[in-house]
Amino acid sequence: MTQEEVILSDRLKEKFNERFGHPPDFIVSAPGRVNLIGEHTDYNDGFVFPVAIDKYLHIAASKRSDRQVHLHALDMNEACTFNLEAIADTKTPPWGNYLRGVAHFLQEQVLRKSGHTLNGMSAVITGNVPISAGLSSSAALEVASALAFLGACGLEIANTGINSNSEMELIEVPPMELAALCQRAENEFAGVNCGIMDQSISLLGKADHALFLDCRSLEYKQIPLNLTDILIVICNTNVKRELASSEYNKRRAECEKGVDILQQWMPAITSLRDVTLAEFKKYEAELPQITQKRCRYVVEENTRVLNAVDALTAKDIDTFGALMNASHAGLRDAYEVSCDELNILTDIAQSIDGVIGARMTGAGFGGCTVNLVYQDTVEAFRDRIMEEYTQRTGIEPDIYVCNVGDGARIKWNSHS
Ligand code: GLA
Repeated sequence: MTQEEVILSDRLKEKFNERFGHPPDFIVSAPGRVNLIGEHTDYNDGFVFPVAIDKYLHIAASKRSDRQVHLHALDMNEACTFNLEAIADTKTPPWGNYLRGVAHFLQEQVLRKSGHTLNGMSAVITGNVPISAGLSSSAALEVASALAFLGACGLEIANTGINSNSEMELIEVPPMELAALCQRAENEFAGVNCGIMDQSISLLGKADHALFLDCRSLEYKQIPLNLTDILIVICNTNVKRELASSEYNKRRAECEKGVDILQQWMPAITSLRDVTLAEFKKYEAELPQITQKRCRYVVEENTRVLNAVDALTAKDIDTFGALMNASHAGLRDAYEVSCDELNILTDIAQSIDGVIGARMTGAGFGGCTVNLVYQDTVEAFRDRIMEEYTQRTGIEPDIYVCNVGDGARIKWNSHS
């Protein structure tokens, strides 16, 4: 834990005590993420390559003896309450919907099978994952709340490294099943048709490793980053992702339309994952222009991820960087989910000596870029971005040099 994290968790315990009159039983922490390459591929059954960042969403919680869930979001200064007997009926603030969804599917999909029932829970939430910045604060909230609801039942997940207290009962839930459940909560309770990348990395992140995930088979591999003298730097446009959810759902629909049309010649395909570039080129002229652009990007991006993983494994960092730059170009010109501010940040970054690769990350329309930068260039990088981006857009960016951290964890308080 960094010094910042220690201060945050002490403050959280204090606030919990103030609000509920006793210390919390445990604190769950789940990280945000940055995706190195493989954007908008997860919902096309493709490949992604994210890392967990050392910014976390924390939930301090205790079980209750009734079936109420009492939540307080410190950073928003908002509270909400719902009853586990009538989860679907309650309307809560937008952030409360994630917890309602997670509670609902946890009960339906996991606990019913294992013969457990959710307990009520008192919880205080805080964190330092920037909100609406494309760094997956929502997935961190979902994952943290899944572990918190389990913790309030005295349960920990077996065989994941998440379990920290040998006295707790262990429950066998494959991490990808938990990730899928959190994704479903976001799809059905928050109305965002997201894929499975963000929840998976928040659960399965590993320090100094990236997660190579096949979003069809849900098989994954932790790939060592081995980034000697190279840092991952995130630049935040500080443009809120206004269009993100409506345009996101439109992109998804375009990809599905492409598959429908291509099935005339390739009846066996069920997603763009099944289409090679050579096959795509053969039939692309048959697709409406917009559909063609969107699908071509996805087919190419899947290949880029595979090449990027090979390049990293072969310690060929320049090829990795070139693939990141190509990914950005595709997102900007063909998938059209970038925006002026993201393009300006990327242009500046790519023109700096010592920057290996730069691209937008996440859904797009604002949010952040991810940059691989040689350590001895980071100060110059920071100065150039600060000065030039502010001058060209009138907005001050935020810049985070990030360490690749671990996935979600639970820490029990010694009083319990
Ligand atoms: C958002 C979604 C993810 C993924 C990315 C784009 O972060 O939550 O599932 O689709 O956008 O790669």
